[in-house]
Amino acid sequence: MKITAKFLDVNETATGGLVLWLNKGETQSPLVKKADKALDGHITQIIKDRDFSGNALETLSFDTLGQHPAKRILIIGLGEKADVTAETIRQASGKSATAMKQAGIKKYISTLARAQVKQATPAELAQAIAEGALLALYTFDKLKSEKETKKIDELKIVARSTKEEGLMTKGAKKGITLAESACLARDLINSPGNFATPSHLADQARKISREFGLRTKILDAKAIEKLQMGGLMGVASGSHQPAKFIIMEWLKGPKTEKPILLVGKGLTFDTGGISIKPSGGMEEMKSDMSGGAAVIGAMRAISALKMKVNVVGLVPATENMPGGSAIKPGDVLKGLSGVTMEVINTDAEGRLILADALAYAERYEPDCVIDMATLTGACMVALGDFASGLFGNDETLIKQLKETSEEIGEPCWPMPLWPEYEAQIKSDVADIKNVGPRAGGAITAAAFLKKHVGAETKWAHIDVAGTAYTTKARHYITKGGVGLGVRHMVRFVEKRTGAK
Ligand code: BES
Ligand code: ZN
Ligand code: ZN
Repeated sequence: MKITAKFLDVNETATGGLVLWLNKGETQSPLVKKADKALDGHITQIIKDRDFSGNALETLSFDTLGQHPAKRILIIGLGEKADVTAETIRQASGKSATAMKQAGIKKYISTLARAQVKQATPAELAQAIAEGALLALYTFDKLKSEKETKKIDELKIVARSTKEEGLMTKGAKKGITLAESACLARDLINSPGNFATPSHLADQARKISREFGLRTKILDAKAIEKLQMGGLMGVASGSHQPAKFIIMEWLKGPKTEKPILLVGKGLTFDTGGISIKPSGGMEEMKSDMSGGAAVIGAMRAISALKMKVNVVGLVPATENMPGGSAIKPGDVLKGLSGVTMEVINTDAEGRLILADALAYAERYEPDCVIDMATLTGACMVALGDFASGLFGNDETLIKQLKETSEEIGEPCWPMPLWPEYEAQIKSDVADIKNVGPRAGGAITAAAFLKKHVGAETKWAHIDVAGTAYTTKARHYITKGGVGLGVRHMVRFVEKRTGAK
């Protein structure tokens, strides 16, 4: 889909669809007023007839039957004027793109960038509009015989002046790159376990690296064993699929700047292993590599945007299967950090493979390490499907992650990590055990990860178990893989480094 910004008169430009907006309680705005006049007061009438009140994401649409150069007009509510943010615009753009597609429209014009939004430049608004539209229009039909036929070819964003067109088109381009990268993550998440194997994740990482100039290394099972990554080896031992350890380097920032390390859980299917999961809903465990997908997507975006930053992505990738040589409850594994880990429950496998990735991250003497993982059902219980759990050992880092997550519409909420929780994963036979008490399970999982992070390393962990996958579509989020973490990490890296 082509997305550009143009200064144009919406009442003079022929198009398939036109998106107008109103704030809560408004029945008129300069743009709506003009269109209303062109339509002999039809808009005023229909707003009244249908009780449209401008609540956020409320919509009203109608065909203009030859009375206006736009064949169809959609009015979308933005809610209270004072509450409108770039995220409101992103959501409104997602909802309007879906409506335009459903109406079979090929080309449409959006006036959403003309809304009053605090703390957002015209370029940022164009970016949000592009992100919202592309994310909402995503479909996963590669395994279907009948493909989706309705397709939008073009979106024109109305600029305030010709002077703004260039910057806004650039903003839209950035939005396109970010949305495409998040959709790549969605593709990986939505691909079933027999397609998205560890080898497939590695192939995708290689493909992206060739396209955008990243330096990527894939450690195969032999290299993993040579390094003595006991956690990853242990979890992989029950599966016929060979484990991979994916390393994606983008070191294009100042030589003096330490790299930001992004680590993602790449568990391509989690059966639970010998501590096998109940079968109901187990198919959703194809999404247990969502953290890894976020890292691969973020590395794509950072390299495609040619950001002048130093960032390294690490993805330990394996299945968790109950094969004959699988690890068993009671087994003890030694991680790359040297810490010994008693496996109480083989279904708490994410922390075992992340342990090695976190230890590997230390080799880069990182500025900070962020890991993202579908780690615990307990986190889902704590925060539901709206916010991800945020843990860490550095207040500034946690604050930056929280703020940027809220900015881009994927909220993370800080959770505690007091030493008392670490005491709960002490093992009788090894240094630590992989399960603590049922209560507080998201926190003891984070405490487990912390044991593998260097004492001086600034680290944060984002538990996305409740947020990475959804069975319900809303605004720009489609069913299945959400693709979260991609836009968040890019925004975080921008904020942390000051690079654009
Ligand atoms: N992948 C799961 C966590 C998960 C649960 C992700 C639901 C998404 C949705 C993880 O490997 C797991 O099974 N964790 C166990 C840990 C327990 C055995 C301590 C859990 O949360 O039940
Ligand atoms: Zn598990
Ligand atoms: Zn898992």
